[in-house]
Amino acid sequence: MLEIKNLHARVADTETEILRGLDLTVQDGEIAAIMGPNGSGKSTLSYIIAGRQDYEVTAGDILYNGESILEMDAAERAASGVFLAFQYPLEIPGVATMTFLKTALNSQRKARGEAELTTPDFLRRVKSSAADLKIEMEMLKRPLNVGFSGGEKKRAEILQMALLEPKLCVLDETDSGLDIDALKIVADGVNALRSTDRSFLVITHYQRLLDYIVPDTVHVLYKGRIIRSGTKDLALQLENEGYAQIIGEAA
Ligand SMILES: Nc1ncnc2c1ncn2[C@@H]1O[C@H](COP(=O)(O)OP(=O)(O)OP(=O)(O)O)[C@@H](O)[C@H]1O
Ligand SMILES: [Mg+2]
Repeated sequence: MLEIKNLHARVADTETEILRGLDLTVQDGEIAAIMGPNGSGKSTLSYIIAGRQDYEVTAGDILYNGESILEMDAAERAASGVFLAFQYPLEIPGVATMTFLKTALNSQRKARGEAELTTPDFLRRVKSSAADLKIEMEMLKRPLNVGFSGGEKKRAEILQMALLEPKLCVLDETDSGLDIDALKIVADGVNALRSTDRSFLVITHYQRLLDYIVPDTVHVLYKGRIIRSGTKDLALQLENEGYAQIIGEAA
């Protein structure tokens, strides 16, 4: 599904490297958790996979289903099934959430060669997915993310993911700001999408999320590189010991 090889990247208008030789492979159907201290490059990695313009890849490659995506812009990547749930979802004043979802879903369907949904079909799907995520339909009439609480924004991201049915889902700290019930609801939403032809990159600081979304692999990102990979037990170890030892061993 995803193969990242020796990736080096920096913010476009600076010299500072943020990713420094990152290697990561995620198989079809795999849930890979990414953990790591603040500032280690997790969100940067998610932006670069999604194709955000402000970053520049200076070396290495990102292969998605065997083909490099570095030359594809963000819209092309999204059309091919790459999805990013942002750590800080963007507010879009003036665009009703419902309208945004319909446009996004229909352009995704178009890219897959499927027909546009009629309004009643679209509404049926949104209602069903929103109900699963305990999102009130009233909220979806409001401009996207504007005035949404932290947890509501995160749920709206997962709603978008559920509707778009992407193949590679990158979730950047989707658990942060969620109350205990919402954490379970969101995790159930992710688990419902688990499938042999869909992969997840779950970025999180907390082992707790991984009790609900059980990962196949856990990777530690530090200073722009993966310094340790393991099973879900690695997350438990980090919870107990912190990062110091693993960082020390990698140095
Ligand atoms: N536009 C930018 N200009 C300068 N530095 C940047 C920029 N974007 C990111 N960085 C720096 O790159 C490093 C990695 O940032 P990133 O947001 O990827 O970290 P993170 O691992 O997601 O951290 P957190 O756990 O706090 O979310 C940080 O030191 C950050 O300050
Ligand atoms: Mg981050």
